[in-house]
Amino acid sequence: MSDYTTNNAGIPVESDEHSLTVGADGPILLQDHYVIEKMAQFNRERVPERVVHAKGSGAYGVFEVTNDVSQFTCADLFQPGKRTEMLARFSTVAGEQGSPDTWRDPRGFALKFYTRHGNYDLVGNNTPVFFVRDTIKFQDFIRSQKRQIGSGLRDHDMQWDFWTLSPESAHQVTWLMGDRGIPSSYRHMNGYGSHTYMWVNAAGEKFWIKYHFHTDQGIGFLTQQDADRLAGEDADYHRRDLWQAIERGEHPTWTLKVQVMPFDDAPDYRFNPFDLTKVWPHGDYPEIEVGRMTLNKNPDDFFVHIEQAAFEPSNLVPGIAPSPDKMLLGRLFSYPDTHRYRIGPNYAQLPPNRPQAPVHSYAKDGPMRYVSPNVARPYAPNSYGGPAADPTRAPVTGWTVEDSEMVRHAYTLRREDDDFGQPGTMVRQVLDDAARDRLVGNISGHLLDGVSGPVLERAVQYWRNVDKALGDRVAASVAPD
Ligand code: NDP
Ligand code: HEM
Repeated sequence: MSDYTTNNAGIPVESDEHSLTVGADGPILLQDHYVIEKMAQFNRERVPERVVHAKGSGAYGVFEVTNDVSQFTCADLFQPGKRTEMLARFSTVAGEQGSPDTWRDPRGFALKFYTRHGNYDLVGNNTPVFFVRDTIKFQDFIRSQKRQIGSGLRDHDMQWDFWTLSPESAHQVTWLMGDRGIPSSYRHMNGYGSHTYMWVNAAGEKFWIKYHFHTDQGIGFLTQQDADRLAGEDADYHRRDLWQAIERGEHPTWTLKVQVMPFDDAPDYRFNPFDLTKVWPHGDYPEIEVGRMTLNKNPDDFFVHIEQAAFEPSNLVPGIAPSPDKMLLGRLFSYPDTHRYRIGPNYAQLPPNRPQAPVHSYAKDGPMRYVSPNVARPYAPNSYGGPAADPTRAPVTGWTVEDSEMVRHAYTLRREDDDFGQPGTMVRQVLDDAARDRLVGNISGHLLDGVSGPVLERAVQYWRNVDKALGDRVAASVAPD
């Protein structure tokens, strides 16, 4: 026999069919606390969706080290032979919860590693660069990609208006309009840490790092036409693909490689190595293998494990630290802040966010707290054996800031820094003729859908700045007949 229904307090209920009324046709009684519980619970089923990356999918897995990189970092999860449990969430950026998976957009690539020294979160994208290079522009950028104030419609004119007024976006927009702007599935895309991070080894030596997760399934992409069709046929196309592959036992894997820049190379490097709109060419800093990530377990409750997952770039474990990237530094604040708003100040106690390392934090109380602080007295210092901060548990990180005035200023330019150089290299040297043709088609298709007047003129110039021949082809494609 199956279980009997209870209310949330475990008390058997009389009916899931009929509320308690005065006579069969009479009013519903307030004393039917069960029908009230059902209505009230339902009314509170939603938490706010993520302000960006609202539509996503995820799975649990494991990260295994395959190469010895201990000369670069003492981070526990990257030590030889290590195996660390983890969670991944992939997402689109601008769409809402129910939006189609196949819209052209970057994809989020968020990872949480449950290490011995606490949670390490690497919250990246499927692209190595980004649209802007200063945190202060992120909110405006996102609003330009979302919906118009009046109509509530998405609007390509807003997108191109912002992009063409922000030339630093050119590298990421080239990427977005190219084949990789719509991956064929979450399994068939790479992930990049995107920012530059610091690694520190056991001897205290520092290095600058970029993370590249290469899909072992091979890169796959959708044409605009196929993506448009799939958006109508199956809005959850990528969610379904990931879930079903893992259910079938086809566990997707990614090989992690890193680029390592010696700490002292940074001041003289030809590009500013902390600028998120730039890559480090592989010829300058080749990739070094680190390990393999395998996703092997679907969540048993999507809301509990994926919707409530809270990734935060500020979760950095000993041996890993931030860099002077102005986007990364802003993100260190933003994510814990949004989690407190979205899922409450005790979000770290929720199942996907709970560390597998011991927690000895003095934090206490607050809404929905259900684990007591693991401390005898709720304050530090105390003389009752409470935990004490131990600076020797992590190597010293950080960098020197010269005596400087406070300014609002772009990064200092290096000899090859400009907004159009690297995207131009991609167009001319990385793409083949067929990929370039599709790029022209994708750009002009996007522009012809609602972009006109001065914004359209600026867009043509933007592409001529990336590559003259490409810009001329775009101009011809969008010219009125
Ligand atoms: P490489 O020839 O060594 O690297 C080019 C890289 O481009 C490839 O490794 C691949 O990255 C990536 N790529 C291939 N096809 C596409 C595509 N359709 N859309 C986007 N990326 C693609 O040259 P460099 O390292 O000197 O870089 C040249 C240009 O390549 C850069 O200006 C940048 O635009 C782009 N690029 C560079 C990356 C880097 O980290 N150096 C990473 C990705 C792109 P992957 O191996 O990661 O799949
Ligand atoms: C999600 C802010 C740049 C990757 C989010 C969220 C916020 C945010 C508020 C919602 C988080 C949540 O509700 O759980 C910012 C700010 C940025 C920035 C302020 C710039 C200053 C970036 C960059 C990347 C990135 C550069 C990638 C390199 C992601 C990912 C998610 C996300 C993957 C989804 C995480 C998940 O799956 O839960 N961002 N973001 N963001 N962001 Fe950013």
